[in-house]
Amino acid sequence: MTETEQSVYEMIGGTETFRRLVDAFYKRVEADEYLRPMFPEDLEPGKYWQMLFLIQFFGGPTQYIEDRGHPRLRMRHAPFVIDQKGRDHWFTHMCEAIDEVGIQEPARTTMRDYFERGSSFMINADQNTPNLMHWQKPPKDQST
Ligand code: HEM
Repeated sequence: MTETEQSVYEMIGGTETFRRLVDAFYKRVEADEYLRPMFPEDLEPGKYWQMLFLIQFFGGPTQYIEDRGHPRLRMRHAPFVIDQKGRDHWFTHMCEAIDEVGIQEPARTTMRDYFERGSSFMINADQNTPNLMHWQKPPKDQST
């Protein structure tokens, strides 16, 4: 980026827009029966870090790295079983959130492209791997 170019952060209206984006995204995660069990019960800390990360990534203040350290996103996602289906849900929710918030071109395409590639990069399990995050209680033993 040259000095005269505006960052996505500035283009879309700064921190307040990222707050709205993350709210719109997490609202969808919360209602998603496939993704919701993967996330911790308390969604607030994750929401906060995601917001700070995105602000930093898209050219805003660098509070994420100051408070949290290097993002190492693949490593931070390693504890979660992320398959193609989970990734597709995630990406769909993010695209819908971008539109709900009303992010305009050219920022819209820049963000979609990043999320499309970035979410695929986070895949760490194939579709056939038993998903231990989605285990279900075995049926009650009838013999006792
Ligand atoms: C471009 C794609 C993605 C980005 C930029 C991203 C970004 C982030 C960030 C910044 C965090 C917080 C890390 C921290 O604790 O400091 C996070 C947490 C998380 N992400 Fe992602 N993520 C992406 C894709 C995905 C995908 C595809 C999934 C699953 C389908 C996923 C599931 C999660 C989960 C379960 C957490 C933990 C939430 C928590 O601890 O509350 N992420 N992500």
